Amino acid sequence: MSNKILILNGPNLNLLGKREPEIYGHETLADVEQLCLATAQGEGVEIDFRQSNHEGDLIDWIQEARDNFDAIVINPAAYTHTSVAIHDALQAVEKPVVEVHLSNIHKREEFRHTSFVSKSANGVICGLGTHGYQLAVQAVCRLLSSR
Ligand code: DQA
Repeated sequence: MSNKILILNGPNLNLLGKREPEIYGHETLADVEQLCLATAQGEGVEIDFRQSNHEGDLIDWIQEARDNFDAIVINPAAYTHTSVAIHDALQAVEKPVVEVHLSNIHKREEFRHTSFVSKSANGVICGLGTHGYQLAVQAVCRLLSSR
């Protein structure tokens, strides 16, 4: 059976392509999903790609990964900088986690420089736009095969 990767996207990422394109680019979240699907096919893994504007949804989905997925790729969006609950959920899941951001959060406002999520991630990719998602899928596959 092939590995299954859960790809989670936090608040406002549903507006990708329309929202601050000078920061986040012109590609939509559907484009990102297609990119992840193509990457997953190349790696021989399955993905489930989801987005929510609600913190509780993201936590429920992370908990679901305990039984139903092998690894997580997550762009927690603004919850990156605020959510102890997402940090705790990821700690509890005991699966490889890669955090991804389209923009380079370290080059932006001070409040974006802190990530609660990084403390529970195996690795972090930021500042490479949608290509970062492709790299994140490849990274969790590498982590899974080296287990
Ligand atoms: C983001 C960066 C966050 O600071 C921001 O709140 C987002 C998107 C990114 O992908 O660059 O919504 O996670």
